[in-house]
Formats: sequence, structure tokens, C-alpha cells
Amino acid sequence: MANQGVNDPVNQGRRRFLTATTAVVGAVGAGFVAVPFIKSWNPSARAKLAGAPVTADISALAEGQRLIMEWRGQPIWIVKRSKAILDALPTLDGHLRDPKSENKDQQPAYITGEGRSIKPEISVLVGLCTHLGCSPEMKAEIRPEPFDPEWKGGYFCPCHKSRFDMAGRVFQGVPAPTNLVVPPHHYENDNTIIIGVDPSSSSKGAA
Ligand code: FES
Repeated sequence: MANQGVNDPVNQGRRRFLTATTAVVGAVGAGFVAVPFIKSWNPSARAKLAGAPVTADISALAEGQRLIMEWRGQPIWIVKRSKAILDALPTLDGHLRDPKSENKDQQPAYITGEGRSIKPEISVLVGLCTHLGCSPEMKAEIRPEPFDPEWKGGYFCPCHKSRFDMAGRVFQGVPAPTNLVVPPHHYENDNTIIIGVDPSSSSKGAA
């Protein structure tokens, strides 16, 4: 019988993403509540695949929650991080492969610092592992995990056990070679993020 890609980690990741975008958001652990997947403001599926920007309303996004959008066929995670999570980020630098985000391919130039974000509390990431494209699980609570007894919150890829912190920075000693990608984005106002357009080019169309 044909394999049908059952053991293909890329296909597994894709399946997880499709599940997430239809069922909505990754509620992980106590205190994490699902947020509706926003469709109404956004372009048609065909336009999104072609690269049209998508709009996210984060007005209802509470601390610890993740909103999952789709842009260019990829899952986009928008996560509101707590102060405890932000405070933990600098403490992880010595365990990370690229703590200062020096690989310029993984984020736009305006994304700097440990938090890799425009606003400190809001993280925007492409939710695909940089190893072979599975969709990592959000493990956002600071507590011991089976894969790391000193876990400070982050993302764990079940395919080959890569780990990333809550800024998408990859740990040392895992298969994933680079940090998670931060997509081009900007804030139209305090509660509205446009995915796919840089702040400096918001009047020129998609990045
Ligand atoms: S796809 Fe291999 S570790 Fe994520």
C-alpha cells in the first residue's frame, strides 16, 4: 500500500496546522483560552495564498493566549506574553543558538532584542519548525517539562524534539538550525495587526 506520507513530518505538521486553523487556537495548559479564528476581515483563501496581507484583531487577546491566523499558506501565531515570560527571555541567552537574532533571514530588520517583537508583550511568529516544517506545540507555562526540567515557556516540536523559547529563539543542541521566522507585520492601531506588510511600506502593499 502506498505510504501516503503518513510518516512524513512535514505532512504531519501541515495536518496539525489545518486542524488548528479550523478548530481554532492552541490552548495549552491552565489559563489558556481559545480565541476565535478571525475570517471576516480577511481576503479570500485564493488571495491569501497569493500573498495578500491579513488583518488580526487582537483586542480580545488576553495574556497567555494565542491567536492563529493564516498568511501565504502558513500558520501565523500571535501570542500575548506575560511579564514573567518576558523577564525569563534574557536568562535563556546562554542556551540558545542565535540569541541576538543575527541570522537576518529569520526576521525583518525592525525586529530586534530578546523579545523579537514590535511591542514587548505581543509575539508574532510563523508557526513552522525550521527543521522540517512541523508545527511546534506551545508550552507557554514556566514549569518543569519532561524535555526540560528548567523550562521557561516556549515551543516544543514533537517531530524531532526541537525547542524554542517564547520569542521563537531556537535552543542549542536540537535539530532546528534557526530561530522561528517573524513575518513582516505592523500595527494599524493598538488592536489591529497587519500581517504581510512592513511598518515602513504599509502604503505600498504586501512585503
Ligand atoms: S520538524 Fe524536526 S524538530 Fe521540528
